[in-house]
Amino acid sequence: MAGDRNIVIFGCSRGIGRALAEEYARRGARLVLLSRDQDAIAELQRAIEAQGGEAWSRNCDVSDAEDVQAAVSYARECLGGIDVAIVNAGVGGPEWMRDFRASEYRRVMETNTFGIANVLEVLIPVMRAQGGGVIAGVTSIAEVRGFPGSAAYCSSKAAASTLLESARVELRDFGIRVLTVRPGFVRTAMTAKNEFFMPFLMSPARAARIIRRGIERRRRIIAFPWPTVLLSRIVRVLPNALYDFAARRARSENMRS
Ligand SMILES: NC(=O)c1ccc[n+]([C@@H]2O[C@H](COP(=O)([O-])OP(=O)(O)OC[C@H]3O[C@@H](n4cnc5c(N)ncnc54)[C@H](OP(=O)(O)O)[C@@H]3O)[C@@H](O)[C@H]2O)c1
Repeated sequence: MAGDRNIVIFGCSRGIGRALAEEYARRGARLVLLSRDQDAIAELQRAIEAQGGEAWSRNCDVSDAEDVQAAVSYARECLGGIDVAIVNAGVGGPEWMRDFRASEYRRVMETNTFGIANVLEVLIPVMRAQGGGVIAGVTSIAEVRGFPGSAAYCSSKAAASTLLESARVELRDFGIRVLTVRPGFVRTAMTAKNEFFMPFLMSPARAARIIRRGIERRRRIIAFPWPTVLLSRIVRVLPNALYDFAARRARSENMRS
């Protein structure tokens, strides 16, 4: 496990985060589980302990800087040091310009972007003091362009990826490895709301395995699955007129109704 024994996961009450906790628990890691849904993470903690694993849980809202500070203190008390922190917490869902609300845009940014910023602010001095560590932030392949129906989500993930990239370059000399996780489509409560075809949809367990291996290998960018990554690269470089045409055609029904 490349010495990755003490793991903290922000946002693991369900979906990819929960699968990551299960994946790490199976490999003997000691886990601190953080999410807003205290019942769900307490149940996950009990399930891990029933399998002979070690886990602690505490509610934490990543958009609340003080809560993040308290959660990291709790994690240090439980684990001693933190080898890997995974910031997986995220919100998203269809949002259309005809109903655009700046407040809703801000809510998505508060979790998906400022959640990662809040964790970085607390963990950088902690990891510097302990001589290093890994911070993995979960963004998305959806960051490549402003997709219709996903303005806040795409913006928040693009900003988060840029933040993580600067952090990756700057923090390397302190022994802090900053990794960016960019999943394609994964079958979770978040994607259950999508009304469009999702190519190469995968299970959360498979996504968790890929992420854990990528973290173990200290991959700067853990983007998967490769056909979706390839598709996203093509979409990124499409000329604007062609992109607008294709994106409008794909979602025209939703844009008007
Ligand atoms: N599913 C996909 O296809 C896909 C693709 C690309 C990227 N992603 C990203 O992967 C991550 C996990 O997504 P998912 O599909 O597993 O979604 P999900 O099933 O809806 O789970 C989201 C997790 O984030 C937690 N969370 C949300 N807001 C939070 C907050 N303010 N503070 C702390 N935890 C919070 C939720 O826990 P509580 O509600 O208990 O707080 C939950 O455990 C997200 O960052 C998402 O954007 C997903």
